[in-house]
Amino acid sequence: MSCTRFAPATALRGSLRPPSDKSISHRAALIAAMGEGWTNVEGYLDAADTRSTLDAIRALGAEVHEEKLGEGEGVAGARGLQVRIKGVGLRNPKPATIDVGNAGTLLRLLPGWLAGQAGGEWKLDGDESIRRRPVDRITIPLREMGADVSAREDRLPPLEVRGAPLKGITYEMPIASAQVKSCLLFAGLLAEGETRVVEPAASRNHTEAMLKAAGVSVWREEDTSTVVLQPAEKLEPDDLLVPADISSAAFFLTAAVLIPGSEVELNWVGINPSRTGLLTILKRMGADFEFERKAESGGERVATLRVRSAHLRGTEVGGAEIPLAIDELPLVALAACFAEGTTVIRDAEELRRKESDRIETVTAALRALGGSVEPTPDGMVVEGTGGLRGGTIESHGDHRIAMLGAVAGLASREGVEVVGMDAAAVSYPGFERDLCSLQAR
Ligand code: S3P
Repeated sequence: MSCTRFAPATALRGSLRPPSDKSISHRAALIAAMGEGWTNVEGYLDAADTRSTLDAIRALGAEVHEEKLGEGEGVAGARGLQVRIKGVGLRNPKPATIDVGNAGTLLRLLPGWLAGQAGGEWKLDGDESIRRRPVDRITIPLREMGADVSAREDRLPPLEVRGAPLKGITYEMPIASAQVKSCLLFAGLLAEGETRVVEPAASRNHTEAMLKAAGVSVWREEDTSTVVLQPAEKLEPDDLLVPADISSAAFFLTAAVLIPGSEVELNWVGINPSRTGLLTILKRMGADFEFERKAESGGERVATLRVRSAHLRGTEVGGAEIPLAIDELPLVALAACFAEGTTVIRDAEELRRKESDRIETVTAALRALGGSVEPTPDGMVVEGTGGLRGGTIESHGDHRIAMLGAVAGLASREGVEVVGMDAAAVSYPGFERDLCSLQAR
């Protein structure tokens, strides 16, 4: 297990394009695989999770050509891979056993596509962490649509899918989950009749945007939280330029806010409003962001974000804001340690079902560094003390906890040792190099 020390930094300065969006990359590969012709994805995320998705679609019969983009080679500075995918067609994925690795999004989205395939059988399994991640959130509504799915103890991977005829349903999701919504929309493509997914709060909508671009009739009902999809005969996916991942940019944004004297520019970042909760929360805490050069890329808004260090105050985070910042809530807790006053995060029980139980792992990490954090059943209460001492933390194999530890180290008084830093490669290989490139000398 790798162990890395992050020393206190004086200031972060400079500009970079964070790696491409993980959520969009997973969807781009899956939707391209559902098409019949070739789709070009520029700047596909080159990380362990999204490589699992490329391997999965290969196993299902898609043809995949990938080329690594060299420095400055990609359109608009795109990083990662240029991927060309020849789809197998909406109704033609080959039976296969799929190793999803650590990728929860692949585990939850793919069964939706497979559930309605006549006559096929598939098995999905993954690493030790994936085997603890619940799949009953998808098997329950899929069965309601007519699917034949089974799981270990009826709720954990491995997951088996035997294709069966599906019918469209109206499903009221008990939790706001883009993964569950996307799974049901994929299943709806092959179902008889309309599929309606009612969200308790809006979650990321990349699947809807990409399916629409592929010619599918999918829309959000006006003034409601219902997404409606009509079954499709075939998909014609658009070529795509993947924006940088705001969830990866978030580590630098937070570091720049916390480290006095910092000023950082992050380029070509996706600012879909369903993903920008962290910006809203940090602004409310006193941070200062500027957006520049807004553009559109594959139906997604992108911008250059400029951020400076700021003095923060505590805040309350809950309700509809949670799905908009779900992967960034650990960073909110970190920022809260540096703020003045109390920060309360509530309605975020979902954090317990991520790559680790993030209420427990964030609490343990921040406490080990001198933070004052109380876990609650659905969140955390953080007493800001104006900073963190430093110390040693464990990533618990969770990429976002590893990178949180690195940011904490740079912002701390004594530095932080992260045990299991290699977990960062799940979404961000090269994270340490990028972080280093922003350190003022
Ligand atoms: C994701 C949705 C979120 C998020 C995950 C990626 C996606 O999960 O936490 O990292 O790509 O759809 P939920 O939809 O389960 O909240």
